[in-house]
Amino acid sequence: MKASLAEISQTLRDSIEFLAGPLPTDFDVDLRRSEFSDFQSGVAFSLAKPLRQSPRQIADQLASTLTAKEEWLTAEASGPGFINLSVSKAWLEAAVQAEQHRDPSGNAYQQTAVVDYSSPNVAKEMHVGHLRTTIIGDAISKLLEAVGTTVIRQNHVGDWGTPFGMLIEHLIDVGEESAEAKLLETQPNRFYQAAREKFDSSAEFAERSRQRVVALQAGDEPTLLQWRMLTELSRHYFERIYQQLEVSLSAEHLAGESIYNDMLAGLTQELLDAGIAVISRGAVCVFLDGYLGREGEPLPLIVRKSDGGYGYAATDLAAVRYRTEVLKADHLIYVVGAAQELHLQMIEETARKAGWLTEQVQFSHVKVGSVLGSDGKILRTRSGDSQKLADLVEEALTRANRAVEQSRPELPAEVQHKIGQQVGIGAIKYADLSIGHASDYTFDLERMLAFTGNTAPYIQYSAARIQAMLRKAAEAGSSFQETGLDLTEPQERSLAIALLNYSHIVEQSAQTLQPHRLANCLFELAQAFSSFYDHCPVFTAASEHSRDARLKLCQLTLGVLSSGLGLLGIRTPEQM
Ligand code: ARG
Repeated sequence: MKASLAEISQTLRDSIEFLAGPLPTDFDVDLRRSEFSDFQSGVAFSLAKPLRQSPRQIADQLASTLTAKEEWLTAEASGPGFINLSVSKAWLEAAVQAEQHRDPSGNAYQQTAVVDYSSPNVAKEMHVGHLRTTIIGDAISKLLEAVGTTVIRQNHVGDWGTPFGMLIEHLIDVGEESAEAKLLETQPNRFYQAAREKFDSSAEFAERSRQRVVALQAGDEPTLLQWRMLTELSRHYFERIYQQLEVSLSAEHLAGESIYNDMLAGLTQELLDAGIAVISRGAVCVFLDGYLGREGEPLPLIVRKSDGGYGYAATDLAAVRYRTEVLKADHLIYVVGAAQELHLQMIEETARKAGWLTEQVQFSHVKVGSVLGSDGKILRTRSGDSQKLADLVEEALTRANRAVEQSRPELPAEVQHKIGQQVGIGAIKYADLSIGHASDYTFDLERMLAFTGNTAPYIQYSAARIQAMLRKAAEAGSSFQETGLDLTEPQERSLAIALLNYSHIVEQSAQTLQPHRLANCLFELAQAFSSFYDHCPVFTAASEHSRDARLKLCQLTLGVLSSGLGLLGIRTPEQM
């Protein structure tokens, strides 16, 4: 076996089996980085009960077995039962080199996953909540692709349902070429509110709107034409934001609620025929065991409303079917606000009952927490509207640009601007990605853009610093690429171990759908690089060989930093 993290795990596993007999294949040997040695395992704690010995006794035995077993590995029991593991210099050097050629895509992940993310609503502003599902969904898609999964992105845009009657009528009233219509591309909420006000104040408009919904759902051609105009204008608005954020969502991933229209009647009938849905007060409802409302009354999943209209639940059920039957997905992933947990649970259960979702297909809700303002409440503008996304992005870019102008006044304006863009967007994305997706967090531009702490600029800066060094080496005609590693100082070892962790973390992040694990791995790597940089002089190293070996280590670090940032959708600036 080649030197790698997997080799340590396997060696540890073999020693445990020697002591305790065969282990289940998924047994976790609990290997991690450690401050006290190269690696540490707490496996003895979980073996204490089955082996009826104290963790410390087990750790002692495992440590001596391990040390005797391999000449590259030494182990020592510590504290109440930890095992501290140290690897030889040659082994570590070989492992770090080999890691560069490792491809994390393995058989385990060769499946098709549909990732439903972003999914804003037509004629509504995208808010920071949508921003977060967009960014997290994009990172999850890239992570899954990196481990060999076929990803189908689906932007489940809210482009169907009752409000479209009034929106279309309003568009007809103002004219599609009017300034009011253009608001859809820039400030969709204002368009929506204008329609809403008319609906509330004019009985005539309200009646027209109701008739328009009926015409829309019946497939009336002129109505569909107006509807297309409306969604098109709205799409310009989303696409501008995706482009600005460099998110990999485009027109081909658009799969709005409307595309399921033709499936809804049949699906409703099937649910009724199977006895899964019943008619309750004129509506078609599914009642599932254990779902109760506030007063303890059974909570329905409403498939068809009493007025005959289909809503959010119906299109979601149709989407499940489409994704399993047509897209042939093995895994349905919903990167959607935590508030929609109940809705998605009911969708999953109903679809399983109906047989649209078989046991082989996984269903995951990646719950996305709220973005809070400095007052600890959901982020809002002064007028009480939810904060406009475009404004926040603009503000982040302005600040990032200003910071670059100050730190690098000598650079040409367009270079400053490019760096500002990469840093500003990186900062926003990283803030969303570096904490668990389900946690709420406070939107704080100042902190996101800081060059210290767990931020994108901090990690980007490490990468930029390395690039400056490599440029300097190239200018001097260095041929360090051919040099091997020479890990002598403790900081060099720590950096090497941080590098070794990377592909394992990519797999874990993908498997658990938790990009924050990768973010934290990159942060730790950047920290390890900083302390290496502070303690181990590169250009003034004691020998040419040492200088070249350090340059090599820097280059490997850069490779991992930039591919990791890439998976998070963050650019690596050439300089900062
Ligand atoms: N459009 C919805 C919203 O803005 C999110 C849709 C999430 N995806 C889904 N399949 N339900 O809240």
